[in-house]
Amino acid sequence: MCAVRTQVGIVGAGPAGLMLALMLERAGVESVVIECRSREHVEQRVRAGLLEQNTVELMHELGVGERMAREGLVHEGIYLRRPGATERVDITGLTGRRITIYGQQELLKDLIAARLERGGEIRFGVTGTRLHDYDGERPRISFEQDGQSAELQCDVIAGCDGFHGVCRASVPAGALTEHEYVYPFAWLGILAQAAPTTDELIYGWHDRGFALYSMRSPTISRLYLQVPSDERIEDWSDERIWAELQARLASDGWRVGEGPVIDRGVTPMRSFVCEPLRHGRLFLLGDAAHIVPPTGAKGLNLAVNDARLLSAALGAWYSSGEEAGLAGYSTAALRRVWQVQDFSNYMTNLLHDLGGGPFQRRLQLARLEHLSRSRAAATSLAENYAGLPAAPDF
Ligand code: FAD
Ligand code: DHB
Repeated sequence: MCAVRTQVGIVGAGPAGLMLALMLERAGVESVVIECRSREHVEQRVRAGLLEQNTVELMHELGVGERMAREGLVHEGIYLRRPGATERVDITGLTGRRITIYGQQELLKDLIAARLERGGEIRFGVTGTRLHDYDGERPRISFEQDGQSAELQCDVIAGCDGFHGVCRASVPAGALTEHEYVYPFAWLGILAQAAPTTDELIYGWHDRGFALYSMRSPTISRLYLQVPSDERIEDWSDERIWAELQARLASDGWRVGEGPVIDRGVTPMRSFVCEPLRHGRLFLLGDAAHIVPPTGAKGLNLAVNDARLLSAALGAWYSSGEEAGLAGYSTAALRRVWQVQDFSNYMTNLLHDLGGGPFQRRLQLARLEHLSRSRAAATSLAENYAGLPAAPDF
């Protein structure tokens, strides 16, 4: 068995794990990242695409923002569309903040490259990850790599292994409180080789259900449709997908730009939070600890925020023995998590067919109307969408 000693053992090379590794390195703290998938898999997996200004600023501070600055698309507003009306929410005018479109897998490519160039370790393709002794002072993580048993001996374990990972699941029953709401619908998402025919994202309300028009570059579009939660992707031909997008996003004299579909998938929609985000020397970050429905585009940004808070706490602990940051990590991270849960739930309820019939639909239209007439209402949406400014306790 090969045993390796490090300060922080990080499980999962997603946005949370990799940002944490880079921030710890900057604070002079050693870590090893283990990941059950291959590097290729992690770098190809199509997921989120919208970065808050907080995330963008952190990428620059860590010296990994150069390609994002070149290739990312900076947006200053979003459109809210309903049949017969499109209203623009002027995010930058209302908040002074900007958002950047940059695919999650592009961000991950940049983080992985920087981590390896700087001599940091990421062990891809591990199996059988198990956590041990994290209620004491010498936690361990055991796993197999290339048929060999291996062990990481560390001071602290960072569980960054996503919703289906082993970290949260290994905490004894009853030690964490879980809050969950599963929405009765899902999102069918496609990536298409098609020039976007919109300059900013369009969130579309329609009787037929919600649709979202996003993008990845001047030649690649990313689009989503609300579908029933048990929907089979095989039942959606390209023709059916485009026809539905055209119907739900319709506007006079305008069409969604069509092209070959290069990736597709169905994502269930849930809200989930476990509390607290710590058990002994195990800390939970990102999707391992909380899930938001994607309507507010927050999952990735929230994962990065957890990493920012935990790295600051660990940096203080290692440099001066100061425990307050670690003791306060869960409370600080959850403060934003619940704000973002509320906003993601609000955006989801505002725009999806919730199954409540015509009365509920008229209320949604009244809220959309209110957003177009009330600067206060639009400002509230805009400041949440752009991301509330980062703080040491938030
Ligand atoms: P993840 O990115 O899930 O990373 C966890 C990593 O841990 C993975 O690489 C995984 O392979 C690894 N891992 C798991 N188990 C183990 C183990 N036992 N040992 C070692 N490694 C392990 N958000 C949006 O805002 N908009 C979207 O459109 C959107 N679409 C999404 C589509 C899908 C299919 C999914 C799953 C999520 C989507 N999200 C979206 C959410 C967003 O991508 C996540 O919030 C974000 O990836 C969270 O980052 P993370 O680092 O916490 O977790
Ligand atoms: C994207 C995803 C979202 O969930 C969202 O609200 C906005 C954009 C995207 O993948 O581009």
